Formats: sequence, C-alpha cells, structure tokens
Amino acid sequence: MTYEADEVLSVELVHPDGKPLPDWTPGAHIDLHTGGQVRQYSLCGDPADTTRYRIAVLRAPASRGGSEFVHRELRPGATVTVRGPRNHFPLTDADAYVFIAGGIGVTPLLAQAREAGARGSGWQFWYGGRGRSSMAFADELTALAGLTPGKASVVLHPKDERGGRMDLARILAQVPDGARVYCCGPQSLIDAVEAARTESGLGDRLHVERFAGTPAAPEDGERGFEVECARSGRTVAVGPDESIVDALEDAGVYVEASCRDGVCGTCETRVIAGTPDHRDTLLSSAQHAAGDVMMLCVSRCADKRLVLDI
Ligand code: FES
Repeated sequence: MTYEADEVLSVELVHPDGKPLPDWTPGAHIDLHTGGQVRQYSLCGDPADTTRYRIAVLRAPASRGGSEFVHRELRPGATVTVRGPRNHFPLTDADAYVFIAGGIGVTPLLAQAREAGARGSGWQFWYGGRGRSSMAFADELTALAGLTPGKASVVLHPKDERGGRMDLARILAQVPDGARVYCCGPQSLIDAVEAARTESGLGDRLHVERFAGTPAAPEDGERGFEVECARSGRTVAVGPDESIVDALEDAGVYVEASCRDGVCGTCETRVIAGTPDHRDTLLSSAQHAAGDVMMLCVSRCADKRLVLDI
C-alpha cells in the first residue's frame, strides 16, 4: 500500500500463489470484496505486468464502507477476494485523445493515457482537483507525458490555485477532429461534460465513466412482468416495485450483482427474447438499441415477458 495523496492510498494486489493475474485492458475495473461488501475500483497499473494489479482508493466521507475498510483495516499481506477484471470503458481507436479527470477519476484515465502513448497517438490530459496535495498520480502523469514530448501534455488544475474549476466548454471546444474524449470523475463533472456533449459536436466521441449510480427514480405507473430463466426453465414474476435481481433472489435463483445501481456490469445478462427497458448508465445507446444484453439490477421489461440466459 502506498500513500499517493490526501486520503488516497494505492494498493497492489498479487496472486497468493504468485501466479499471473488475468489480463486486462485500460479502463477495466475489478470488484474488491471489502469486509462484507463489494466495491469497484479501476485498475491503474501497467497491463503488461501480469504479476500485480494496482488500484487507488479515495477515503470517501460518505463511504458506505468500502473505502473505509481499505483505509482502516486492509494492510499489506492481507488476503482479499477480487473478481474481474471487466472493462465497460475501453479505449476505442482514435487519432488522438483528450482525457478529463476529476479527483480520483484519474485512475482509469492514467492507464488509458499510457495505452494511448503506446499506440503512438497524441494525448492531452486535463486533471482537476481540490488542491495539489489531493491529486494522486500527478507526477506519474507528468513523467508519462515527458516520454513522448510534443505528442502528450498534462494540465494540472488545482482549484485552490486556479481560483475555480476547469473551463470544460473551452476544453471541449478545442478537441481536434478525429480525437476521442474520455472523462471520469465526480457526478458534477460528468454532468457538466454531458451537458456540453451536443454543443461541442462530440456525440459518440465522448466517453464517460461514473463512479456511483444515479438510478432512475421509479416511474409512475411502473408495471410488473415475467422473467423466464431459460437454463432452469423457471418463470419468476417481477412486481412493479422490485428489481429483476431482487425478484430472482427471492425466488431462489442466484444472480451475481454488486453495485445494484446499473453502473458496474456485474449483473449483465444475455437476453434471449423480449424487449428490455434499459435503465443502466453503462451500456452504450447502440447496445441499448440492440437489446441482446441488459443489467438486471435496474433495467426492466418494455412489454410483458423476458427470456434470459440464466
Ligand atoms: Fe452493477 Fe447491476 S449490479 S450493474
């Protein structure tokens, strides 16, 4: 474990028997079991090094227990359970990249910037934080940009020194043609970037990753429906006030779930028949339109029956 910044510890995880760990690609996260809970953390090390994973954990004031466990209880040498990695935030091919990080949102983008450089693409990195002492990996990023001078740059934006937040409208307005934008950070940053999506003309060249779910409020007139589990042949009724995951669990059908907010991908399931009513913030609009997978923790059925590959 390493102190990286105010309230930020990085943790290196190795296989207990020294075996290589499963491959991952930049943007991926793991599920870390933290004292009875499961939390998602982006991998921010080097994918070429299969001997270890690195994550960084911000101690969240409103922690539901995950970051508190890492900061107070987890210590070097302890054994923890990890699942994954999974990547719902992959780096798509592009001529160049613009990364926009807020706070601990730097973690997936650090790995992506390293990958962008390895692909020979140019990249700009805009990194905002409360103050320099809170901005993990700022030196590592600056050193990374120094490996490809003229092609990579980092702009650090400590709010206390700059007297305000990053000027997102200006950053997005100068994204080069053919470049893609990757943004990760607190909800306020994601909301501001999303609000500028149309005006900036970026459309699907803008990719965002949220940390915490903003599940849709239950809609008036929510209806119940049926879920058929194709593998077991069982059919389960889902009431208007419950999720598919809850209904399946109550019926004794085991499904993996973690965030239960539609942001982590753990409960992603293949749809064999029926039309999902997607409520997650993870799948792309193209994946929503295709309708062949869905997140069972938040999404519902657009008609009366779904047949799922479970
Ligand atoms: Fe995380 Fe469903 S449990 S997306």
